[in-house]
Amino acid sequence: MPAVHSSAPGKIILFGEHAVVYGRAAIAIPVLHRKASAYVMAAPSSPAGQVIIDAPDIKLQTTLENLKPEDPFSVLFSLLQKELQIANFPALKIRIKSDIPIASGLGSGTAVSVAAIRAMGLFLGKPFSNAQVSAMAFEVEKIYHGTPSGIDNTVITYAKPIYYVKGQEPETVEIAGGLDFLIASSGIASATSDIVAAVRKAKELQPAHYEYLFDEIGKISKLGKKALRQGDTADIGELMNRNHKLLTQLGVSSDKLERMISAANQAGASGSKLSGAGIGGNIISLVPHAYIGAVEQAVLSAGAAETIVTSTE
Ligand code: PMV
Repeated sequence: MPAVHSSAPGKIILFGEHAVVYGRAAIAIPVLHRKASAYVMAAPSSPAGQVIIDAPDIKLQTTLENLKPEDPFSVLFSLLQKELQIANFPALKIRIKSDIPIASGLGSGTAVSVAAIRAMGLFLGKPFSNAQVSAMAFEVEKIYHGTPSGIDNTVITYAKPIYYVKGQEPETVEIAGGLDFLIASSGIASATSDIVAAVRKAKELQPAHYEYLFDEIGKISKLGKKALRQGDTADIGELMNRNHKLLTQLGVSSDKLERMISAANQAGASGSKLSGAGIGGNIISLVPHAYIGAVEQAVLSAGAAETIVTSTE
């Protein structure tokens, strides 16, 4: 069997985080120049059925049988076995490389899953459809996130901007014109499942208020889809600012994120918001091309740990 390779991008949420968990619309875009890659090759000198996992970026070099059953790779290979209806894999080696920052809201774990699932399908001569890849990556994501909405596995599988509502076919969003987004990391890890649980608790105390906030966020995602299709940067920026205010009302912002967002907008961003679960994690700003350097400097001065510029095609 010839060696095969597959890759998958990082991702960032542009509109609708948290509300998407409760059935409202959200939009996520791929971060195309950061990716996870999987290489699968035969290992003819290994014992029959042995799967070697070689993932230097996460310091993992082992065989499948040595992993705990709850390890994401164990879960992933069990899903592959079930989907392909095979009892054993041929002796093989899977090598994983990734330049997506880990545990930073950019979907690194999911990108590894998507790349590995696709490469395994190709290697075994049974290429998977996007729907199959996304569904398997979703099952693996549950290990990290408990009750994920499904937006991460969807945008990373399709590698296109996605308008997503839980339980519905994802819609790709063709963005008019090239837009530049600056992603700035707060340097504080964002524990998605804890923050999602905190929002759930707060919602139980004030259900009507939270439903109202989720509705408003869902409306912004809908307007955002239209503005992105028209390439209307003033509207997109304004919607990002409004979405951020609503996220603040949900209780998922923090002083550091607020400082970074003010700095970005003062330095010329068209709009900014926190992205992902919040508290720590990232902010995302839409930035006119000429201002990228200035906005980057401003967020770094406001305490950002790292910046990434991602441009739509
Ligand atoms: O922290 P991230 O980028 O994985 O995003 C979490 C997004 C939430 O809407 C808060 C949760 C979800 O499952 O969609």
